[in-house]
Amino acid sequence: MSSPLVVGIAGGTASGKTTVARKVREALADCRVAFIDQDSYYRDLKDMPLEDRRQVNFDHPDAFDTELLVEHLKQLRSGQAIQKPAYDFRTSSRLESTVLVEPGDIILIEGILVLHMKEVRDQMGVKIYVDADDDLRILRRLTRDIKDRGRDFDHVVGQYLRHVRPMHMGFVEPSKHFADIIIPHGGNNDIAIGMLVGALRARLAAPPPPR
Ligand code: CTP
Repeated sequence: MSSPLVVGIAGGTASGKTTVARKVREALADCRVAFIDQDSYYRDLKDMPLEDRRQVNFDHPDAFDTELLVEHLKQLRSGQAIQKPAYDFRTSSRLESTVLVEPGDIILIEGILVLHMKEVRDQMGVKIYVDADDDLRILRRLTRDIKDRGRDFDHVVGQYLRHVRPMHMGFVEPSKHFADIIIPHGGNNDIAIGMLVGALRARLAAPPPPR
């Protein structure tokens, strides 16, 4: 049996990475697909006062527990299930509970910096970058963070200018260079997503390469 195919899905905040990953999973519902999101691997800040947590730069690579993420990717690739951490954006801390992720023939990994991080990128067989216009991303982010992540307008704007935008320009956007496929128009691009699904199905059906 051939080893699982790791598919990385990167892109700026609120570009539609989760939607692309969800549509791929839905289209491959008859296949064994494991899914992990980089957001679940944010470092746990429960020992830091809540006010200080709000000032942390969550768009810098150091904000993530990348060692654990890489370990989990390796376990999934070797056919072992993992207990994925669960993250609470309202408190910027890990929940007590974890989520069981079974191994799959395809392993989808989604997050802003998955293509930037060499140790993560090196495990990928297919590298995707989801692109969306900056004005649409900030509007989506504003709505989402206020509705779902317990933030207010001033906080979202301040965080965007202080951390999100500079880290996007410094780390996220340049990582597009590593992509095999760039999907424009975020998660709404059903033609590109359909082509990706077709390519993944072809890879699953292909006989393993000779050793
Ligand atoms: N973040 C935050 N507070 C935290 C942890 C992370 O505000 N405690 C923010 C970071 O600023 C980062 C963003 O979360 O920019 C990463 O999540 P994002 O990529 O926006 O979420 P997805 O749902 O994966 O985005 P998409 O819409 O592309 O699916």
